[in-house]
Amino acid sequence: MSDIFPKTFSPIKLGNIELKNRIIMAPLTRQSSDDDGTPTDEMTAYYARRARGGVSMIITEGTYTEDKFGCVAYLNQPGCANEKHISAWKKIVDAVHENGSKIILQLMHGGRVSDPRCLYENESPVSASSTKSNGSVLYSDTDEEMYNRGLKPPWPQVNFPKAKEASKEEIKLIANGFAESSERAMKAGFDGVEIHAANGYLYYQFIDPKQNLRTDEYGGSAENNARAVIEAVNLVRQAIGDKKLISVRLSQDGVDDFEGQWPDGVKYAQELGKSFSNSKVDCLHWSSFDWKDNKDVSSNTPMSKIIRESSGLPMIVNGGISDGHDCEEILTSDSGDICAVGRPLFAHPDWPHIIRSGEKYNWIEFDRKYVIKPTYDYSYGYPLDLKKSNWNPDLMIRKQK
Ligand SMILES: Cc1cc2nc3c(=O)[nH]c(=O)nc-3n(C[C@H](O)[C@H](O)[C@H](O)COP(=O)(O)O)c2cc1C
Repeated sequence: MSDIFPKTFSPIKLGNIELKNRIIMAPLTRQSSDDDGTPTDEMTAYYARRARGGVSMIITEGTYTEDKFGCVAYLNQPGCANEKHISAWKKIVDAVHENGSKIILQLMHGGRVSDPRCLYENESPVSASSTKSNGSVLYSDTDEEMYNRGLKPPWPQVNFPKAKEASKEEIKLIANGFAESSERAMKAGFDGVEIHAANGYLYYQFIDPKQNLRTDEYGGSAENNARAVIEAVNLVRQAIGDKKLISVRLSQDGVDDFEGQWPDGVKYAQELGKSFSNSKVDCLHWSSFDWKDNKDVSSNTPMSKIIRESSGLPMIVNGGISDGHDCEEILTSDSGDICAVGRPLFAHPDWPHIIRSGEKYNWIEFDRKYVIKPTYDYSYGYPLDLKKSNWNPDLMIRKQK
């Protein structure tokens, strides 16, 4: 095999973690945990298979930190909230390590876009401000998919309720929940954690100026908007020490705002980057569907490059990376230090080997069939049977604490 992508396949030290190459697996929600958030054997097989496929590190799917404050965002989302979760994650971590990859746990709080069926009776979702998302639970993507899966219209829709503004005390308790969950993650053997502040979830709701309408120290400027997540980072650092990795994931768009952009675009990104420069984070992670697109007409510079420069921190770049040429371009243009790949790894667990060979492969567009119940034979990626969940939209699933 000729090494046509030398930077991509060169090692790097991220925080105190040695990575064998620059390709990592982006976090991808699968909703395949047990109903109580316990990771399953199917997940062990799924992650181990992708570790064997040659990535240097895996960022897990978004995981809830604790079963309170409306933290749980999805049905069958995994948690890292108790001893049972720790034991199940340990199996996954051990299998991934045995297959030559590092693994960090992505921690998230759903905020105003948590599936309301995950809330307890009379519980309101929390957010930076009292706002209501116009989106609905990502249950399906297209009519075509509905027909592929043999379902009949109307496709059920679950809307988000109005959120209440998190009090300062709640902000601290939630950050504390991230720290406690990180400690549990260390017991499971993870190499670090990623704090999810992207894609529409709670900490993104603080960072996005369109959603954060606060006038106290948690709103009103990039520095203030970043405060809640930076407080979480610093508490997590105290909990897990200096040897483990902490990443923070950022984005402009979210699950209820796929076209989303920051009002001040690049200028806001620069300010935001600066806010992280004195925090205890090891690296930032830029998430998008096209890593080159900054959605700001005044500049052609990728957002990851802007934030990398202003923060002075190593940058993981994600979004539409389709081959080794994309990776080399990211790494040689100073747009980032690591490439995070999502959809291609759903369908092609051996993606790093495939692109290293230089052979062409078929990009398989994302489809919920990868998440819920594959209608086609993806047994190479899904070694065990997926269980069938009861996701009736009319059911209020969790009535009691
Ligand atoms: C099915 C699916 C699930 C996802 N789940 C998560 C998640 O749990 N956490 C997260 O930060 N991003 C999540 N993402 C976003 C991806 O990490 C990534 O940003 C997106 O797929 C674009 O990257 P790609 O072009 O390499 O696929 C998800 C994306 C998809 C398609």
